[in-house]
Amino acid sequence: MLRLPGLIDPHVHLREPGAIHKEDFESGTAAALAGGFTAVLAMPNTDPPLTDALSLARAQAAARSKARCDYGLYLGGAEDNAPQVAGLAPSACGLKLYLDQTYGPLRLVETTAVWAHLRAWPKDRPLAAHAGGRSLAMVLLLAALEGRSVHVCHVSRREEILLIRAAKEKGLPVTCEVTPHHLFLTQADVPLLGSGRAEVRPRLATEQDRQALWENLKVVDCIATDHAPHTLAEKDGPQPPPGFPGLETALALMLTAVAEGRLSQEAMLRLMHSGPRCIFGLPEQEETWLEVDPDVQWEVRGEALQTRCRWSPFEGMRLRGRVRRVTLRGRLAFEDGEVLAPPGFGRDLSPAAREQRGGEGERGPT
Ligand code: DOR
Ligand code: ZN
Ligand code: ZN
Repeated sequence: MLRLPGLIDPHVHLREPGAIHKEDFESGTAAALAGGFTAVLAMPNTDPPLTDALSLARAQAAARSKARCDYGLYLGGAEDNAPQVAGLAPSACGLKLYLDQTYGPLRLVETTAVWAHLRAWPKDRPLAAHAGGRSLAMVLLLAALEGRSVHVCHVSRREEILLIRAAKEKGLPVTCEVTPHHLFLTQADVPLLGSGRAEVRPRLATEQDRQALWENLKVVDCIATDHAPHTLAEKDGPQPPPGFPGLETALALMLTAVAEGRLSQEAMLRLMHSGPRCIFGLPEQEETWLEVDPDVQWEVRGEALQTRCRWSPFEGMRLRGRVRRVTLRGRLAFEDGEVLAPPGFGRDLSPAAREQRGGEGERGPT
């Protein structure tokens, strides 16, 4: 049995508020624990989106009573809320800027709005950008001009990873993540998945793009699932929304790659634990570990997953490595397919919430 630290997913969509038929804090954090993640950072493109104090307070209240694992909430940048969200920074895990069109209303059209956020958001707090192609070049330039860090979400193409590599070589404080689906799937899988189910942003790319991600894994700072649950009825319907669930397949995909010699176990832990923890300034989760059977082979079946959407783009794939037990802050949180941590056990990892808990330490009630 392999003992690993709790994994951290810096990019998930938990759909609460507004679309809890797809997922909510309870089901999404159950999926996280089943996949070996003890902390998840949730995106703000909810309904309503998290763009001000009231929407943040409502999401915080829902998460506080429902989350089973630890979490952070991102605020979302809108065209006109740069000073307001900057004032809320201590209560969030970071700010998310959408420079390209994707699911939800948060796209920033004006360059001046992007710039205003890069200027106003505290330099010592994480700022993450959904930006591919030219939008990526744009946000890298603006961040460099402002002398601040930027974290690039779900890098999917060769030209993008090469641009980030060049920015890092110049010494710019740029970090990035890749998703398991962009490491394991390409355009060639679209007909097999069906066009609606294959919808995802960024889109599945070419085999050359996929290879470039593997070849530049040293440039990558973390794996993020971009867990984006939508129901099968929606994915197979007339206007399929983009997104794949990914929390329960990420570790096994990476362990399968480790078994095949594509990366070392140390590299995997850098990408799924220490990398995200460092970038997002997260506290150590005391008495937290996973027990993983690295040799067990299993077949992905959507029906057997904890996520409310109960499907997977990896359906039918045989993967190696399975989470047997998760211990979170001294408490058995998951064992052999059963989620044991109750709703409300999860803690908000934002600086303000940690400060409020004061001297209590980061261990859970026993
Ligand atoms: O495929 C995606 N789905 N990409 C995104 O950027 C958003 C996400 C979602 O919220 O469904
Ligand atoms: Zn995105
Ligand atoms: Zn996303």
